[in-house]
Amino acid sequence: MERLIITGGNKLKGNLKIKGAKNSMLPIMAASLLNGCGKEVLLENIPNLIDMHIMKKILQFIGATVHYKNGNLRIDSGNLENYSIPDQLMGEMRSSIFLMGPLLARSGKVKVSHPGGCSIGLRPIDLHLKGLEAMGAKIWEEKGFISASAAQLKGADIYLDYPSVGATENLMMAATLAQGKTTIYNAAKEPEIVDLQNFLNAMGAVIRGAGTETVKIEGVDRLESCTYRIIPDRIVAGTYMIAAAITGGDVVFTDVIPAHLEALISKLREAGVIVESTDDTVKIANGNLKALETLRTLPYPGFPTDLQSQMMVLLSLARGESVLVESVFEARLKHAEELKKMNASIRVEGCKAYIKGIEKLYGAEVEITDLRAGAALVLAGLAAEGTTIVTGVKHIDRGYERIENDLQLLGANITRGCEENIFYLS
Ligand code: EPZ
Repeated sequence: MERLIITGGNKLKGNLKIKGAKNSMLPIMAASLLNGCGKEVLLENIPNLIDMHIMKKILQFIGATVHYKNGNLRIDSGNLENYSIPDQLMGEMRSSIFLMGPLLARSGKVKVSHPGGCSIGLRPIDLHLKGLEAMGAKIWEEKGFISASAAQLKGADIYLDYPSVGATENLMMAATLAQGKTTIYNAAKEPEIVDLQNFLNAMGAVIRGAGTETVKIEGVDRLESCTYRIIPDRIVAGTYMIAAAITGGDVVFTDVIPAHLEALISKLREAGVIVESTDDTVKIANGNLKALETLRTLPYPGFPTDLQSQMMVLLSLARGESVLVESVFEARLKHAEELKKMNASIRVEGCKAYIKGIEKLYGAEVEITDLRAGAALVLAGLAAEGTTIVTGVKHIDRGYERIENDLQLLGANITRGCEENIFYLS
């Protein structure tokens, strides 16, 4: 099993270019299925992530041809053969649920296994299914599989009980080829939803309002191919910004969209970090970290839940006491236990983490439970005294392209090793 071995204490310095966004790439890869014109779509700025390869396998199973090379994806979905996704592929990645909308719209039927939750919560899909039913889909469940059929989806007015990112994206895709108009009320407003709208419109869809709480889609008969460059990954950028801050470093991040990071930039400044930004760069310089009275995760433009675990590390090293409230997922504070192995002082009660700033974190062997918790443990290792061994690296590779390479470029002492050579470190 692969591990990351980190010796803390180096201040991160230099420049780093941020790659394309995982949470834009995945729905946009699924949305490429809507293009039946027989000419391939070209997607640019695609990061080489495990989740991209899983989605590639799923699209190929359905019948699309998919080629990935040097950050570009070429996808031709002219000839679809399958409408049911094998459960071992569904199980590998929850985002496969995004395929329901496009497959229903293209083939009139779809069969998926329940995507299941992961270690951050139950992650139900009721809002996805209710929206598809509102558009005329017949949905039934049997033996853990969910099937849906619709000879022709019809436009509908859909109100989301919660501004779910995935449900908004799934329903936007389904509505693209539906008959008539669809309006999604209380839609999620994340930048990745705007990216999906822009990609679909580049293929000839007629969608307005992404980025606001009301998205309007006028169904069209067919889409054309296009070339599209996805936006930079705001969560990867935010992760590395926090890494620079907690190591007392001085780093300029390029190819970022600061407007997508407003909540983080505001909280970093409140915590004493020096942050300067231009149109497409963010600079993080050393500051004396101070506690935040309360940090609450919220749907965009609130503070992103995907940066919560990374901020827990920063607050563990800030002077004073902070309260961190995870309001998006019901089980996303597990990394606190691992951080306590490194001397962090954190008490978790329900969805709240009470954090007392400490002088130092100390290296330890820690276990990754989910993608962003894993990133947080790497950050803790960078700031800790001594050596940290992070196991379960495959979780991190789902959302960060060779995280150790990026951090080495900034001067971190981090390597990827396997089980056998670990005892040499003692
Ligand atoms: C997307 O997940 C992201 N994943 C997540 O990033 C991100 O944390 C999340 O949005 C919130 O921003 C991708 O984009 C691939 P939601 P998603 O539907 O769509 C509840 C990462 O680390 N809900 O907005 O699954 C749900 O249980 C990942 O990159 C329902 O109740 O998030 C949760 O409590 C982790 N019913 C809340 O809404 C539904 O039908 C937010 O979920 C759907 C969701």
